Amino acid sequence: MTDPVTLTRTGNIGLICIDNPPVNALSFAVRRGLVSCITQADADSKIDAVVIWADGRTFPAGADITEFDRPPIEPALVDVCDHIEGCSKPVIAALHGTVLGGGFEVALGSHFRIAAPGTRFGFPEVLIGILPAAGGSQRMPRITGAGPALDLMIKGSPINLEKVVALGLVDRVSLGDLKEDALNYAAEILVDKIPIRRVSERSDGFADQAAYTAAIEATRSKMLAANSPLFAPMRILECIEAAAEMPYPEGRILEYEKIRACVEHPQHAALVHAFFAERKSVKFPEAGRAKPRNLAKIGVIGGGTMGAGITVAALDAGLEVIMVERDAQSIARGKENVAKVYQRHVDKGRITAEKMDAVMARYTPATGYELLGDVDLVIEAVFEEMSVKKTVFTALDKVLKPGAVMASNTSFLDINEIASVTSRPDDVIGLHFFSPANIMRLLEIVIPDKVSDETVATGLALAKMMRKTPVRSGVCDGFIGNRMIAKYGDVASHLVEEGASPYQVDAAVREFGYPIGPFQMSDLAGGDIGWAVRKRHAKTRDPKARYVPIADRLCENGWFGQKTGRGYYIYENGSRVGTQDPEVLAIIDAERARAGITPRSFTNAEIVDRYLAAMINEGADIVHEGIASCPSDVDVIKVYGYAFPRFRGGPMKYADMIGLDKVLATIHKMAEQDPMFWVASPLLVDLVAKGKNFDSLNKG
Ligand code: COA
Repeated sequence: MTDPVTLTRTGNIGLICIDNPPVNALSFAVRRGLVSCITQADADSKIDAVVIWADGRTFPAGADITEFDRPPIEPALVDVCDHIEGCSKPVIAALHGTVLGGGFEVALGSHFRIAAPGTRFGFPEVLIGILPAAGGSQRMPRITGAGPALDLMIKGSPINLEKVVALGLVDRVSLGDLKEDALNYAAEILVDKIPIRRVSERSDGFADQAAYTAAIEATRSKMLAANSPLFAPMRILECIEAAAEMPYPEGRILEYEKIRACVEHPQHAALVHAFFAERKSVKFPEAGRAKPRNLAKIGVIGGGTMGAGITVAALDAGLEVIMVERDAQSIARGKENVAKVYQRHVDKGRITAEKMDAVMARYTPATGYELLGDVDLVIEAVFEEMSVKKTVFTALDKVLKPGAVMASNTSFLDINEIASVTSRPDDVIGLHFFSPANIMRLLEIVIPDKVSDETVATGLALAKMMRKTPVRSGVCDGFIGNRMIAKYGDVASHLVEEGASPYQVDAAVREFGYPIGPFQMSDLAGGDIGWAVRKRHAKTRDPKARYVPIADRLCENGWFGQKTGRGYYIYENGSRVGTQDPEVLAIIDAERARAGITPRSFTNAEIVDRYLAAMINEGADIVHEGIASCPSDVDVIKVYGYAFPRFRGGPMKYADMIGLDKVLATIHKMAEQDPMFWVASPLLVDLVAKGKNFDSLNKG
């Protein structure tokens, strides 16, 4: 294997080159190479200054996350950064691409920094539950003060070069070839005899001690008030606070203690899992077998909430869009729904009115299918009724050009049946967006039996253009996400029938980490939606299956949630925050009595165990049936489409972490009470018997 870090010499300047594709992550070999090259350069009498430069798309984008679950190997990155800083000759970091995490720390360990235009900088460690622990939490505030360091490290979002220059973190911007400019900068430093500036010895960031303390205290109060369950942010704050209170060598020790606590916390493993799960989910086998078709112009059938959201997502992706509605009034509303989104951007100063006009120029409203003859792909987002979908697809089949992809946004209907009405089922696919479609990142790509690889690759290409997180799903009622929610939604209603209040169920689920509970969610989405589905399923529902009619009682009163001012909660004067409703509790009591149930009390932990057991068991069945390709795809769906707390990794990762035997025990216990509902997934049973976990199915 070739060495990923090399030292060469140009005149009296040593050039250290990092070459570890794809993102030059700071793996063991890179760390060792950096130490060795700095040592060599320091000892080489022909070298007077050193440039650290990275080949390929970026300066190191961080520590190597794949090494996190292995025992640490020396040298640690913190020692590498200290070694670079300790070099007796000026070290210049030449930065481009995404200078993130450990990469940024290497840059701060260097004595001077030059960057190419367009470079992005950040400390995303918090997103995987840790903190910048190669001296970064101690070095950055020494230059910038506390505020910017807190902002960058606690949010984890990157910032651009202009901001970094303004903060004093980068000394020079390269206007030509970065490597050449860095070598020239090094020569200039030598000629001008500019003294080495070691960041760990600086204290200009502490000059205004009062402002430093105020920034720390303001952030601390905000974090305490928000009561976030995340573990790492407070540890980051403590490190930045300490930077001003102790010399670097002591701060470095504290930083180490804090990161150890983060690494040992279960949130870290869960967040690392989420990071890789998201990257794995985009790897569809079809993409390796076929190339996507061209995508420049698409059609969207329907201008309601979903159709308009999809249209905005497509316009934002730079596509031309023809939106079709059935009549003049509906298309006028559709156009208004689209324009509203951009108008809000204009009102908030996010885009100019000219930009809005330019985007809207790519949008064409229509009331017939005639204009769709040359579109590359069409997405239907009409009423969720098989006969309506079939009518649309029959009509599309007549007008679309050969090779146009025909996508349905259905959230639960059988796409094989929809495809069967066309003469080209190989072009038919499911693209299940989540509302609001221009904001939510998840896209379930549903694979019908006859779809071609090329059609799937084109669906994936669309997801990429729209910056969505695509996940592959087989065809079944509700696909992955909605099929699961149907199951644990039932459990929420069982819990209420047995004695928990909807308010306690919501509180328990929030305590677990969801932003809102299932009954708040129902009020937000509109109780009438679930009611319509239940009515439709009534004909086919097994009469022996447990059915809780409480939600129906509320709907019969016209209490559909926020939009009617009343659901499980009361929403006074259009408020979006509900208060508890004694009348709802009375209805629940009456229904319990009617069902002959004596209510009992539940602990929040019991509620969560049961709710999650149903979710995990259904997820296991979905994997077992091959609807999801692997358990981590289920996790991505729940995290990105259903607000499952990312810091718990997803339901399948959570199950692995608490132990599959524990989940199975809950299911067996519940089966004693309701054997029809609680049937342990064969996959779960098998994994427990073999002592394996879901993650064992994610490999490969
Ligand atoms: N360690 C190990 N592998 C990494 C990595 C890291 N820090 N960052 C990215 N990768 C890998 C990805 O897993 C992916 O591998 P794959 O092709 O086998 O799936 C590959 O590099 C490309 O990453 P991807 O995210 O698909 O590319 P992108 O161009 O969309 O984004 C980054 C590039 C660097 C912005 C993004 O990967 C990122 O944010 N990485 C994490 C950075 C981070 O958290 N650093 C701090 C770690 S302490």
